[in-house]
Amino acid sequence: MTVDFKDARVLVVGASGGIGGATADAFEAAGARVERPARDVLDITNDLSVETFFAAQEPFDHVVVAAARTTTGSVASVNLADAQVSMNNKFFGAYRVARAARLHDGGSITFVSGFLSQRPSASSVLQGAINAALQALARGLALERAPIRVNAVSPGLIDTPLHAKMTEEDRQTMFSRVASRLPVQRIGQAKDVAQAILFVAANPFVTGSTVTVDGGGTIAP
Ligand SMILES: NC(=O)c1ccc[n+]([C@@H]2O[C@H](COP(=O)([O-])OP(=O)(O)OC[C@H]3O[C@@H](n4cnc5c(N)ncnc54)[C@H](OP(=O)(O)O)[C@@H]3O)[C@@H](O)[C@H]2O)c1
Repeated sequence: MTVDFKDARVLVVGASGGIGGATADAFEAAGARVERPARDVLDITNDLSVETFFAAQEPFDHVVVAAARTTTGSVASVNLADAQVSMNNKFFGAYRVARAARLHDGGSITFVSGFLSQRPSASSVLQGAINAALQALARGLALERAPIRVNAVSPGLIDTPLHAKMTEEDRQTMFSRVASRLPVQRIGQAKDVAQAILFVAANPFVTGSTVTVDGGGTIAP
């Protein structure tokens, strides 16, 4: 699908990351003018940073929030303060951006959630809950912010710097194990997710939706 975003003004939050970077590149390739603020310009965990950023900006056509940092681990092993930091980063980070962002009518906001919302993992329960909350936020904001459209794109396992803390050997072992159980027999690339983000941003009949891009991970046995 080739979509023309010629002269559209697009903000990608988290563009230094794998999915955000691929999304910013895809919007640019489709003709958009893309803002990619670094974290020291727009820190989604900081109310003042978010408000100051948008106060100095003209309205956008499309805003994508692909920024997040969360702590992985079971509910029993992650202490409550760290769990709250994760919620404050990924959920309230997107909430702050959506609350402050000024957009043209007919524009869109897209959150990046994650398939753990639908298919929980015993070692990442919190991530699933945060992602489910983000998807509910998109559905509700699609009503509150109409005619601005609000959607979520929910990735499965994607090869990005998010997994850089693992050793190369552990990462490849995990990628192979996950790929072998997926219907598509491979893990995702950031551009797979970017393509879905451009789809929900472009399609004027899509709002309040969550588009899953997980290689069939949610339905795999
Ligand atoms: N990769 C996967 O397997 C996967 C699966 C499901 C869902 N997701 C979700 O997809 C989204 C993007 O993930 P990714 O894989 O692209 O991750 P990534 O490569 O680690 O990128 C994360 C991005 O978030 C930014 N960020 C973190 N904290 C921030 C803050 N306080 N303010 C502003 N920016 C901040 C990072 O900026 P810095 O450069 O400053 O750190 C970076 O640009 C996340 O919501 C993630 O949970 C990913």
